[in-house]
Amino acid sequence: MSLFATKPLSRILSESEDGEHKLKRTLSAAQLTALGIGAIIGAGLFSLTGPAAALHAGPAIMLSFVVAAIGCAFAGLCYSEFSTMIPVAGSAYTYSYATMGELFAWIIGWDLVLEYAVGAATVATSWSRYVVSLLRDFGISFPMEWAAGPFESVTLPDGTMIASGIVNLPAVFIVCMVSWLLMIGIQESARVNAIIVVVKVAVIILFIGFGWAYVNPANHVPLIPETVTGEFGNFGWTGIVRGAGIIFFAYIGFDAVSTAAQEAMKPQRDMPIGIIGSLLVCTILYILFSYVLTGIVNYKELNDPAAVAVAIDRTPYIFLRKLVKFAIIAGYTSVILVMLLGQSRVFFSMSRDGLLPKLFSAIHPKWQTPWRSNLLFMLFVSLMSAFLPLSKLGEATSIGTLFAFVLVCAGILVMRKTNPNLPRPFRTPLVPLVPVLGIAVNLYLMYGLGMENWLRLFIWMGLGLAVYFLYGRSHSRLGIDNSNGIDVTR
Ligand code: ALA
Repeated sequence: MSLFATKPLSRILSESEDGEHKLKRTLSAAQLTALGIGAIIGAGLFSLTGPAAALHAGPAIMLSFVVAAIGCAFAGLCYSEFSTMIPVAGSAYTYSYATMGELFAWIIGWDLVLEYAVGAATVATSWSRYVVSLLRDFGISFPMEWAAGPFESVTLPDGTMIASGIVNLPAVFIVCMVSWLLMIGIQESARVNAIIVVVKVAVIILFIGFGWAYVNPANHVPLIPETVTGEFGNFGWTGIVRGAGIIFFAYIGFDAVSTAAQEAMKPQRDMPIGIIGSLLVCTILYILFSYVLTGIVNYKELNDPAAVAVAIDRTPYIFLRKLVKFAIIAGYTSVILVMLLGQSRVFFSMSRDGLLPKLFSAIHPKWQTPWRSNLLFMLFVSLMSAFLPLSKLGEATSIGTLFAFVLVCAGILVMRKTNPNLPRPFRTPLVPLVPVLGIAVNLYLMYGLGMENWLRLFIWMGLGLAVYFLYGRSHSRLGIDNSNGIDVTR
């Protein structure tokens, strides 16, 4: 078969209901939205907002959140159209298979590992710092060299520092716990996620509510500080763009909703609600949160990954300190949960198509989950979070996600040309403008991430192509007629 042969939509839909590899449809619109919020609010908001304001955007970090949200909204609208048209597991991978052919599908499926698996490793690494710090608040001292990898120096949220660690054990612990939860069932996972989402959103609202009265309007003037060095990204308008590139990480995850399309009860109605709804809720929370943060503390003092704690110390509500730390830890847990869920569902689809070994799509008879896949990713993600530095993992996640967004936006343009008459329960508005702007904005943000990250992306994709040509291409089921096992290409 040609590398660019696409998979017919009718076949994608019929295979998703095939008994051997079937997932249960149990998720409601509210659960899908909660999945989105579960994946979105995490390290990006709590650890990157302060430094991005202090070093790049000033109080205009609020505008950076708007810019990044617009970029995500373009992609979110495109994801929504696809997820109602092709409501099966696998998300962007499956959409590319139907539009741009097997090679592109492979590329995007492999790329999504950066978003989901590496994203989960990033957040697990950060999770461990907050846990060690919270333990310290309760008088329990965890040896720091066992809470950081060997390639980075670490500053805890309470300011303690070490030059380098040995292995990040708490990160491994949380990855294993979450993987176990994912293995035992989607409903169990969705339930835990929903509880965490309520906790983290409630604490953010508390912070905004209590902090509002302590906003000093003088801290918001000027809203866009003038550049000091004149370089790109040093305050001014370019600082807003640079800030948007950094806090883009805070939005990653809304698309994870689409990976669970095959487990949605009414995907046609609920997918757009889950994707756009979670993005909207988080955008509003982020803007209000950054308004209060930069209003309580002058932006120049916010270069601190635990900037929220700095702000709380300026109010009489010191009790919020521990509560916020707890909410952050819980919040990070749900990000890891949904990211690992998304990862296993993407590989599930790739395996069902023959591009990866069968074990990734084997469903446990009782738990009804692709548990072997969860188990393997548990190992892979544990290893990454145990040894690799947080910043590098985070950047790899961002570039991989942006690349996926570009391909999904391009996919909408292709699909409108190749299959103009297919029923589309949700239509991306203003095509081609929205997808084209989506491609432009996301490519621009990728450009902003610099050469080193592009190089890593190329290396990862090169490795992926090697796997495809050595295994996937020869095992692909695209040419096989599923009903009778006959190769229809001959
Ligand atoms: N958006 C997720 C976070 O900020 C990845 O942790």
